[in-house]
Amino acid sequence: MRVFIAGATGVLGRRLVSQFTDRGHTVVGLTRDGRGDSIVQSRGGEPRRGDVFDAESVIRAAEGADVIIHAATAIPTEDPSPEDWDRNDRVRREGAQVLTKAAAHVNAEQYLQQSIVWVARQPDGSTFDENAARHPDDPSTQSAVDAEDISLEAGEQYGFNVGILRCGYFYAPDAYHTQEHGTALIHGDQPIIDGTAETKISRIHVSDAASGFVAVAEENLDGLWHVVDNEPVSMAAFSVALAKRLGAPAPERISEAVARQEMGDVQVDLLSSPMSTSNDKLLAASDWEPRYPTYEEGLDHVVKTWQSNSVLSQPK
Ligand SMILES: NC(=O)c1ccc[n+]([C@@H]2O[C@H](COP(=O)([O-])OP(=O)(O)OC[C@H]3O[C@@H](n4cnc5c(N)ncnc54)[C@H](OP(=O)(O)O)[C@@H]3O)[C@@H](O)[C@H]2O)c1
Repeated sequence: MRVFIAGATGVLGRRLVSQFTDRGHTVVGLTRDGRGDSIVQSRGGEPRRGDVFDAESVIRAAEGADVIIHAATAIPTEDPSPEDWDRNDRVRREGAQVLTKAAAHVNAEQYLQQSIVWVARQPDGSTFDENAARHPDDPSTQSAVDAEDISLEAGEQYGFNVGILRCGYFYAPDAYHTQEHGTALIHGDQPIIDGTAETKISRIHVSDAASGFVAVAEENLDGLWHVVDNEPVSMAAFSVALAKRLGAPAPERISEAVARQEMGDVQVDLLSSPMSTSNDKLLAASDWEPRYPTYEEGLDHVVKTWQSNSVLSQPK
């Protein structure tokens, strides 16, 4: 297969390039600079320059692709402003428009859209699957919902298969948010929000998210797929497990009101309402299975990688 990946230099995209090329597929990765070219080349892919806000460049770069993947995001990292979130929304919406247009233009057989399982989080906190209605009126996920709809409508209009891969909450040794979490624990600065010990959310190690895309592409599956590991976990349990592996102090507890002041509403809402789903549908439809079935194995890998690369400063 010839696979074209937008977002090929990102935390997810880098793994997509490696995993598709390891399995004998030809990969073209969309890049925006020399650093991006090196990342894609070092993983066995061919870099082609373009930007999802420039349709012509994407159509040119996608020439020859059988499968097109939208894995580009601009999720803000430090101290995000509303403009930062707007840029991420644009990458999702305009990116889906441009990349589906490219898929039609180059006669691709399949288009894969990265999404997030929290678009279908249930207002009453109950467990959900791919058949559940999406959460109504959640502004924080609206652009992901729109990207799903743009993709599905384009598939109907142009006749290619569309797979929407809703990923759980990512973690990985090289993911900014996981590194930030580990660093905060080391400094005793990652409290647990009171009352969230039983609030479980579905997560996925990013390497397993990438292998989910490979499985859906190789099987040419369409429709919705929840790419999560086998065991939803509360942020409290995840933090305690990560702290233990790092030899960091056990996290302190703070009230929800203080958390809202310090972390912001989006983050607190994400961590304090359940988001529990399963990977049953993808397991049944493909030979995919997570290499890190739960956060326990995944965090072993994260911390071993940090230790061997001396990424995080060690606790005093
Ligand atoms: N399910 C989840 O929980 C979830 C989902 C996504 C991300 N995250 C988290 O968010 C953080 C960021 O991860 P990430 O992989 O999304 O981001 P990332 O590592 O920053 O990668 C984003 C990718 O999108 C590309 N991109 C951005 N704007 C573009 C544009 N206008 N045109 C073309 N390409 C564009 C970037 O290219 P350049 O290299 O050229 O900038 C990069 O390849 C991580 O900590 C991750 O764990 C979590």
